[in-house]
Amino acid sequence: MTKEKKVQSTTINSNCYPLIRSLNFIRPISQFIFFLFLSLPFQSLPSSSSSSSSDRKFKDPPPLPILPIPSAFQLRWQLDDMAIFLHFGTNTFTDSEWGSGRADPSVFNPTQLDAAQWVRVAKDSGFKRLVLTAKHHDGFCLWPTEYTDYSVRSSPWRNGSGDIVGELAQAARDAGIGLGIYLSPWDRHEPCYGETLDYNEFYIGQMTELLTKYGDIREVFLDGAKGENEKDMEYFFDSWFSLIHQLQPGAVIFTDAGPDVRWIGDEAGIAGSTCWSLFNRSYVTIGGYDTEYLIRGDPVGHDWVPAECDVSIRPGWFWHPSEVPKSASTLLDIYYKSAGRNCQLLLNVPPNSSGLISAEDIQVLKEFNELKKSIFSLNLAANALLTASSTRGRLQDSRFDPYNVLKEGIYTYWAPEENQYEWVLYLNLTKVVSFNVLRVQEPIHMGQRVMEFHLEILNANDEWKKVINGTTVGYQRLLRFPTVKSQHLRFVIDESRADPLISNLGIYMDEFSIFSNIVYNNTRRHTHLNGSQYLRHIPFNHSQVATM
Ligand SMILES: *[C@@H]1O[C@H](CO)[C@@H](O)[C@H](O)[C@H]1NC(C)=O
Ligand SMILES: *[C@@H]1O[C@H](CO)[C@@H](O)[C@H](O)[C@H]1NC(C)=O
Ligand SMILES: *[C@@H]1O[C@H](CO)[C@@H](O)[C@H](O)[C@H]1NC(C)=O
Ligand SMILES: *[C@@H]1O[C@H](CO)[C@@H](O)[C@H](O)[C@H]1NC(C)=O
Ligand SMILES: *[C@@H]1O[C@H](CO)[C@@H](O)[C@H](O)[C@H]1NC(C)=O
Ligand SMILES: *[C@@H]1O[C@H](CO)[C@@H](O)[C@H](O)[C@H]1NC(C)=O
Ligand SMILES: *[C@@H]1O[C@H](CO)[C@@H](O)[C@H](O)[C@H]1NC(C)=O
Ligand SMILES: *[C@@H]1O[C@H](CO)[C@@H](O)[C@H](O)[C@H]1NC(C)=O
Repeated sequence: MTKEKKVQSTTINSNCYPLIRSLNFIRPISQFIFFLFLSLPFQSLPSSSSSSSSDRKFKDPPPLPILPIPSAFQLRWQLDDMAIFLHFGTNTFTDSEWGSGRADPSVFNPTQLDAAQWVRVAKDSGFKRLVLTAKHHDGFCLWPTEYTDYSVRSSPWRNGSGDIVGELAQAARDAGIGLGIYLSPWDRHEPCYGETLDYNEFYIGQMTELLTKYGDIREVFLDGAKGENEKDMEYFFDSWFSLIHQLQPGAVIFTDAGPDVRWIGDEAGIAGSTCWSLFNRSYVTIGGYDTEYLIRGDPVGHDWVPAECDVSIRPGWFWHPSEVPKSASTLLDIYYKSAGRNCQLLLNVPPNSSGLISAEDIQVLKEFNELKKSIFSLNLAANALLTASSTRGRLQDSRFDPYNVLKEGIYTYWAPEENQYEWVLYLNLTKVVSFNVLRVQEPIHMGQRVMEFHLEILNANDEWKKVINGTTVGYQRLLRFPTVKSQHLRFVIDESRADPLISNLGIYMDEFSIFSNIVYNNTRRHTHLNGSQYLRHIPFNHSQVATM
């Protein structure tokens, strides 16, 4: 009884207003509070006399995060926005995509190799991480592994004493940029492939080398690709994933099914216009994917598994002398449809047979970066007068203020009062502006919430007119529409899983995007390989993943 009294007086006195406000929010708590509230006049009179001073003593806490939420490393990964994929190996010298595993190591001789150039190109064009194919399906290793001689050790490059993973790790560290590795499960060279125990030991041995000798690794990228009529075998994914997390706790693991990051489901780099980071790992198998599920995620999923969009700057994943890179405006379009749809863009830029990124690719990346900068460096709403339908917290508390949406980064946000019937942000600009891009971000560390939103402008006839609507937001949503002109805007959230929180709102002018339909060859996975090869699905036991 005394204990209850104590709870009563501190709770009521310090926080009376927010408690009333939340009456209907969480029912069991509100009932308890309601009881306290009713009993206040009878039991708490002495302490209530000091309530006006203590009212100002404590701040309103932030709203509850809504599960699932990202881990610290998933969050760090997502903030990277864009990464470079580097497909490099014997295929670069044999003009192939899937090496047979029989190419002579003597073909591998990138005489001008300079990993610092790869890092420089990535960094200068706004990419935050590099992911290298340390071993592709052909089994040739770009580091001097102890477990096979099918590696740089047997090549003429640096007289067999080179280590590409080591050189890239060093260059990335020097430039302060993250490193990820791809280690193909399917190995067409290794004789023990197909013998389940032996090959799993071999694979874990190689993985351990990569995760212990090269410093901080930020991402481990695995796929379920495998040719037809190849030896059958089981991969011990549960052991692999546990070991990876043990050796590199900061690394996210990418596969079709997570655990940390999922494949988007196509190799065109394009996410669904609705894209949740919410997902059920147990619904998907590695290699046995449901493309629609990967592309959209799951609004009621219980795992946080954001998507990565892999796509190559060229038609193939490896460098081929006959191929040319996509244009900068195509890359910009892909950016809108990947990084602009709550995903990370993983753009493959394959080094050429000299061991350098080709000049024409560098040129395209430079143009792409300039386009992006020229569009997004100026938020036309930067000096707007901002008001909201409601704002959480008290007047002098700026933590939930609508102006937070004009600050960069996801950690400052606008929060509405609880239990509202409408969620609107009003922007009065200092003058009439023309724009055709909307950028919205949610503070995803609090969970992904928004399910439907739209933007309206006040037109010349003083009528509110809808400009664009969308569904999910997540880390970042970019939307393009035909150019409009206005001074008064309102951003309306129509539906949300919980009280919506908005960390960033911007309007921009994009003079470069072509609104005609850019047609991609809508590739299914691995159709970049020639038509006589195709994927075989690898069964994956999910009760094993679930224990991670
Ligand atoms: C490689 O070996 C050749 C001859 O054995 C030698 O001339 C050359 O300097 C060596 N190169 C390197 C990078 O060690
Ligand atoms: C994902 O899990 C939730 C329960 O946590 C369930 O309601 C939903 O149906 C699942 N999604 C799929 C596609 O199975
Ligand atoms: C590779 O790219 C570099 C430019 O970065 C260029 O000098 C070199 O000639 C290219 N090599 C080939 C084989 O195209
Ligand atoms: C913003 O503009 C609208 C439309 O002119 C006006 O009704 C509203 O009062 C303005 N808001 C503020 C805070 O000045
Ligand atoms: C936008 O609104 C229209 C009309 O209400 C609706 O048919 C459409 O599905 C909405 N689109 C999105 C992406 O929400
Ligand atoms: C799409 O594929 C077809 C045939 O595979 C090819 O002829 C065409 O050039 C491709 N288009 C683009 C835009 O790559
Ligand atoms: C396609 O791949 C198969 C098997 O690797 C090979 O025999 C064939 O020559 C390839 N065809 C083309 C057109 O590259
Ligand atoms: C999956 O793994 C669990 C636990 O390791 C095991 O009990 C189950 O039999 C496996 N299921 C299949 C289909 O292999």
